[in-house]
Amino acid sequence: MATLEELALVHTPVKGDALAHLQRLALSWRLLADLSFADLLLLAPVANEDGHRFVVLAQVRPTTGQTLYVTDLVGHVVDEVERPLVTRAWRRAEECEGEANVLGGKERVRLQCIPVRHRGREIAIVTREAPTTSGRRPGELERFYLEAFDRLARMVTEGSFPFAREEIELEGAPRVGDGVILLDADARIKYASPNSVSSLHRMGIHAYTSGVHLAEIGFDEGAVDTAVRARMPVIEEVERDDASILLRVIPLLEDRKPAGALILLRDVTDLRRRDRMLMSKDATIREIHHRVKNNLQTIAALLRLQGRRLDSPEARQAIKESERRIRSIAIVHETLSREAREEVDFSDIVKPLVRVVEETVSTEDGGVRFEVDGDAGELPGEVATSLAVVLNELMQNAVDHAFPQDESDEPVHGSVIVRLSRREQDLLVEVIDDGVGLPEGFSLDQAKGLGLSIVQALVTGELAGTIEFHREKGTRVEVRIPLAATAATKVVEPPA
Ligand SMILES: Nc1ncnc2c1ncn2[C@@H]1O[C@H](COP(=O)(O)OP(=O)(O)OP(=O)(O)O)[C@@H](O)[C@H]1O
Ligand SMILES: [Mg+2]
Repeated sequence: MATLEELALVHTPVKGDALAHLQRLALSWRLLADLSFADLLLLAPVANEDGHRFVVLAQVRPTTGQTLYVTDLVGHVVDEVERPLVTRAWRRAEECEGEANVLGGKERVRLQCIPVRHRGREIAIVTREAPTTSGRRPGELERFYLEAFDRLARMVTEGSFPFAREEIELEGAPRVGDGVILLDADARIKYASPNSVSSLHRMGIHAYTSGVHLAEIGFDEGAVDTAVRARMPVIEEVERDDASILLRVIPLLEDRKPAGALILLRDVTDLRRRDRMLMSKDATIREIHHRVKNNLQTIAALLRLQGRRLDSPEARQAIKESERRIRSIAIVHETLSREAREEVDFSDIVKPLVRVVEETVSTEDGGVRFEVDGDAGELPGEVATSLAVVLNELMQNAVDHAFPQDESDEPVHGSVIVRLSRREQDLLVEVIDDGVGLPEGFSLDQAKGLGLSIVQALVTGELAGTIEFHREKGTRVEVRIPLAATAATKVVEPPA
């Protein structure tokens, strides 16, 4: 379907600022349809025809009443014969009322044609199309809503509605059906709809009668003041008596001067309560990660105490390694406990992981230097946990095996690079050392150590990835992990 802009540019003389004005109108006119219980059409004249034919640029149906048009009329062209009132309103540049047939049908409608003015020039016509009234006397609500509509319609013709600042109908912003208060020029209540009275009750305001000042019933006038003074709509949330009420204040202008206001109110108390509950759920998850981290650190500390009491160097070594593995998992939980998300920035984990390994090397006049290169980006918590353990083992192996102490007792010098490359579909993790290289005849399948068994189980099992060992200057271990199916790589579509 063609957009308002496309239709206007193809069929009508409307462009530039005037077109932007119509687009703003189409963003904020649901209010008018709801207040008038009627369908609205936005019609612009076909170029160079002096109001003989019009094209429908936009259409809105009321949420407060029934629509006359189940079909979409946007793009439809109407002529003088079909809609003489539109042509008359256009040529005279004034509002015209009367009856006509429903577009494309025989049923009669009450038609109100409202010229849309921009910078002193007519640029389009809004028609309000309602069923012909059946002689029924309108109720109080209906009368006040129609009064508000008429005043807004006059603003459309004066060029003061839509407001110059883009008033996009925010998701969740109060609508007419949520509750309406109509104020006169002195901020006295002229009318409050039943739903708005319920919202006032929720705020603990019971003393409402028409004719009283907002301030007299204890209603904070701040938003109304701002809207009237700036002659711009204001959205504000007020909290009172445990209730949260969202206000949308629309100033009503006459000759561009403030002459009252319309307040739309929406009771969002339950919504906010749910938000708070969700927030406390996040806080709970963070707290759990924090406790898991603390418990793991306690276990690591207990193992260390146990290790110190052992005489066998082999047993001491085994305990020490277990301690190191547990600490690498604790690091992930610590990072998860700091954020309210299920994802972690893996870079925040690599640095503390390197520190854990560095602590196991003696740095007497030399040592092994670590360097981290690249960025893994965000990873889901469970991926990060497995990867942290894998990385820890690979770095520890470099320290343990790549730089053996020779007989000369010379201090060892070596470097280990951890390189992370995040690509669209996968993550590449390389641990590169410049040491002595893998032993003759090394093969991963035959490696008997616990370290590489853990690595292999995690990479091929948990992470569904691959691992390769390469003999280069020293050793380069390459771990590849597919990420396509994980949450971290889901592309978030911007809202349409
Ligand atoms: N970066 C490396 N440079 C040289 N040799 C290595 C390297 N990484 C692994 N190796 C070789 O692979 C073997 C298996 O490693 P693995 O981590 O499985 O066991 P480990 O380190 O000996 O014992 P642990 O169970 O404590 O890790 C090592 O003993 C070592 O010979
Ligand atoms: Mg090892």
